[in-house]
Amino acid sequence: MTTTYAVLSEGLEKRFGEVRALRGLDLAVAEGTVCAVLGPNGAGKTTAVRLLTTLLRPDAGSARVAGCDLVREAAAVRHRIGVTGQDTSIDGDLTGRENLRLFARLHRVRGAAGRAAELLDRFGLAEAADRPASGWSGGMRRRLDLAASLIRRPEVLFLDEPTTGLDPASRTLIWDAVRELTGQGTTVLLTTQYLEEADRLADDIALVDRGRVAHTGSPDQLKDRIGAYAEVVVADADALVRAAGVLDRLTGAEPSLDRERNAVGAVTRDRTLTLPRLVRALDAAGVPLLDATLRPPTLDDVFLRLTRPSAHLIDDKERAV
Ligand SMILES: Nc1ncnc2c1ncn2[C@@H]1O[C@H](COP(=O)(O)OP(=O)(O)O)[C@@H](O)[C@H]1O
Ligand SMILES: [Mg+2]
Repeated sequence: MTTTYAVLSEGLEKRFGEVRALRGLDLAVAEGTVCAVLGPNGAGKTTAVRLLTTLLRPDAGSARVAGCDLVREAAAVRHRIGVTGQDTSIDGDLTGRENLRLFARLHRVRGAAGRAAELLDRFGLAEAADRPASGWSGGMRRRLDLAASLIRRPEVLFLDEPTTGLDPASRTLIWDAVRELTGQGTTVLLTTQYLEEADRLADDIALVDRGRVAHTGSPDQLKDRIGAYAEVVVADADALVRAAGVLDRLTGAEPSLDRERNAVGAVTRDRTLTLPRLVRALDAAGVPLLDATLRPPTLDDVFLRLTRPSAHLIDDKERAV
C-alpha cells in the first residue's frame, strides 16, 4: 500500500528582509496522522504554518496540501483546510455562539446554528455561549477558535501552538479534540514547543531548527535517540569531581558540571540505568549525595543532542536508523 500525504513540502523557503525564517523545509505528513512540528521560539514554525495555509507565499520550494498545489491551487487548498493561529480570530464584541455562526455563514456552511451548538458543546463552551467573548478566559477563547476552524470539517487541520499558555483543563480538552478528529480521518499538523505535547499526540515529530527540519521520527524513536538525563547534586567541589567520574562511567557521555550548584549531569541512552542503580554506584564510590534525579529529556536536551554540532554523541551507525 502506498502512503498518501496530506502535506508534502519540498524546499520551502521564506525570507523576511535579512531573516531567513525557512531555509528549505521538507515535511511529509501521512493522511490521517498527527504530525508535531516541534521547535523553540523563532525556529520557523509559524512561518511554516502560514505558508502551508496560503497566508504567505513561499519564496522558493513547493508543497501539496490536501492533494492540491499550494501556489497554483491556493483557493482549493483554503477550501480543504482549517487553521487556528497563535492569535485568535475571535470578535470579542460577539458572543461565542455569534462568532461561530458568523464563521459558518462566511464559509457558507449549511445548518450553521446546529453545527455551532454542537461545537460549543463539544468544547465545554455551551454555558458561556451567549456571553460576549471579550469576557472569556484565554483557554475558552482558544477553544472557541479551534471550534471555528472545525466548522467546515477540514481535511487537514493546522494548529499553531494550540496549547501554549493554557491551563491544564483547556489543554486536555484540546488534546482530546485532536485525538477525536484524527479518529475521524482528519490529518493534523500542529506546532509546539512542548516535547510532552508532541509525545502525547503525534504519530510523527518533525524537529525544526533555524528554518529546517533537523530530525524526523516517531516519539519513541526520538526518545531512543535522546535517552534520559541524569543529574547529581553534591556538597562540595571534591565530591563533584568524583560524581562526574561515576556518571561518565555509567552513561558513557561527557558529564557537564555546574560548579555553582555543585551539580553534574549527563545524558544517557542506557535504558537499564535506574535511579537506584545510579545512587548505589555513587554510594559505592563514596560520593556524599544531596540529590539525584533521572528524568526524561527536555526540549533543550533534544535540541542539544539532535540539532547542534555536538550531536556527534550519536554515532553514524545509530544515525542510520
Ligand atoms: N513578519 C515577519 N517579519 C520579520 N521577521 C519575521 C516575520 N515573521 C517571522 N519572522 C522571523 O522569522 C523567524 C521565524 O519566526 P516564526 O516562524 O514566527 O518562528 P516560531 O513560530 O517557530 O517561533 C524569526 O526569526 C522571526 O523573528
Ligand atoms: Mg510561532
